[in-house]
Amino acid sequence: MAYLLGLDIGTSGIKALLVREDGRLAASHLEENPIASPKPGWSEQEPADLWKNTVRAIQGVLAREGISGEDVRAVGLSGQMHSSVFLDEHMRVIRPAILWNDTRTAEQCREMEDRVGSQRLRQVAANPALDGFTAPKVLWLRRHEPDNFSRLRHLVLPKDYIRWLLTGELNMEISDAAGTLLLDVRAGQWSQEICSALDLPMSILPKLLQSSEVAGGITADMAAETGLKAGTPVVGGGADNACGAVGSGVVKPGRAMISLGTSGVMLAHLQQPRILEQGTVHMFRSAVLDEFYMMGVVLSAGLSYGWLRDTIGGPERIVAEALGSDPYTLLSEEAARSTPGSRGLVFLPYLTGERTPHGDPQARGVFFGLDPSHGRGDMVRSVLEGTAFAFRDCLGLLRAAGWQGTTARIIGGGARSPLWRSIIASTTQVTVETINIDEGPAFGAALLAGVGVGSFSNVGEAADSFVSITGTVEPNPQWMTVYDEYYQLYKELYPALKGSYSRLAEITGR
Ligand code: XUL
Repeated sequence: MAYLLGLDIGTSGIKALLVREDGRLAASHLEENPIASPKPGWSEQEPADLWKNTVRAIQGVLAREGISGEDVRAVGLSGQMHSSVFLDEHMRVIRPAILWNDTRTAEQCREMEDRVGSQRLRQVAANPALDGFTAPKVLWLRRHEPDNFSRLRHLVLPKDYIRWLLTGELNMEISDAAGTLLLDVRAGQWSQEICSALDLPMSILPKLLQSSEVAGGITADMAAETGLKAGTPVVGGGADNACGAVGSGVVKPGRAMISLGTSGVMLAHLQQPRILEQGTVHMFRSAVLDEFYMMGVVLSAGLSYGWLRDTIGGPERIVAEALGSDPYTLLSEEAARSTPGSRGLVFLPYLTGERTPHGDPQARGVFFGLDPSHGRGDMVRSVLEGTAFAFRDCLGLLRAAGWQGTTARIIGGGARSPLWRSIIASTTQVTVETINIDEGPAFGAALLAGVGVGSFSNVGEAADSFVSITGTVEPNPQWMTVYDEYYQLYKELYPALKGSYSRLAEITGR
C-alpha cells in the first residue's frame, strides 16, 4: 500500500510523517531546528537550516520505515505561520526569516493601522495588525534594512519556500496567506487595496494555491537529494494550525481544538467568516476548501514549559537521562505534588510578548507571589496553570465571537501531560478530548496530500474517517472553584504591569 508524506516545517523542529493511504500511521522522524535571537525580542531562523533539516527528516523517515521514495504517493506540507522568507530575483534568501514570535514590529503595526485604517484592515484582512504577522515584517525591512528591501522580489512563508525547493514552483498556500495581513480573507485573493495603502508591489506576492491542490512534482535534483521519486505530487498543505485542525478532525462548525506546541492555540472551525470588530482573536481560512476558523494564540505555551525545563529543570534532565525517561514526566510529577493555585504562585506566560487578548509585544513573563516556602513543584505547576489561564483568556474572546461549544480536542507535545490536560479542563471549564492520533499538523498535511491525489474525496471526510476521540477530561469541580478565584487575580496582573512593561522595554532598548 502506498504512503502519504506529511512534512511539518515547525519552529522547534521539522517533522516528517508517513501515513498509509488507509489512514494508519507508519513512521515519523524529527530534526530539531536552531532558533536565533540576535537582539532581545527578536526571533529568526535561517531558511537553509529549515531545508537541511527537511532533507534529513525525509531521509530519516524513509529509512525508519524501510521504504523507498517510489512508495510515497504524495507529499503535503504544514508550517509555522507568518514567518517571512525574503527572496531576491535569483530566488536567493536575502536575510534570516523573521519568525511569528518576533516582537520587533510594534511601530510597523501602527503604520499599517494608519495607512489602511484599523477597521478597514479588520474588514479586509479579517485581523488586527499584530506583531507576529507577516506584513509588518516587510515594512520593518523597508524601514530598517533598505538595501535588503530593495532586493526583495518574492515574499514566502517557510513551508512555501520548502515546497519551492522541492518542486521549483513558487506559490503561497491560502490558509497561510491568510496570516500575512495582505490577503482579502473572505474573497480569498491578494488585497490590492492593502498593498497600495502600504505602497508594496503586488509582484512580491506569489500565486495563491488551495490546500489540497497539487503545486507540482518533485524535481529530478531534489529526488536525488531527498530520496523521493521525481514527479511525486506535492500539494499546497496548510498553516500549522489549519493542518492541526484537519489532523484532529476539527473540520466542522462547533468543533474546537486546543494545541499545545511552542505556542498555544485555541481554535474554533467556522463555515462562514466572521468579521470581528475588536479584540485580538484571529480569523483565517481553513484547509477545508472555502471554510474558516477563528483562534486565540498564547505565544509561549510549550515554550514556557521548555524554558522551565532548560533553566531550573537541570536535575530532572540528569535523572531522566539516567533512567531513560523524560524530564517533563518528572517535572509534572513534582507539579502534581503542589496544589491547585500552586500555593499562591501565579505565572504570566508572556516570555515572548503577548498575543491574545492584549496584543502587547513588550509584555514579559512573571512569577507573582513567590515566597520562601515555594519549591520547584509550585513553580512548575504555576507555569502549567499560567498557560491554562491564558487559554481561558482566548476562550472568553471566542465565546464573545459566538463559539458555544463545550468540548475541545487537544493536540501537541504538551497534550501528552495528563496533569496539564486536567488543569486546562478545570481552568477553561471545557471538556478536553484526547484523540487517537497525536501527530498534529504533520498528519493534517498528509491527509491534504491524500485529498490532492484522490486517495480521499475531501478533507472533512478524510479527517472524520481516521480521527476518533479516545478519552475525555472533565473539569474538576473543586479545582474549578480555586481556579476561578486565581483567574480573577491573573486578569488583574497584566493591566497593573502594562506601564512597567513599557518602562522595561525602554531600559533594555527593546
Ligand atoms: C499563529 C501563530 C503560531 C504559529 C506557530 O498565529 O503565530 O501558532 O503558527 O507555528
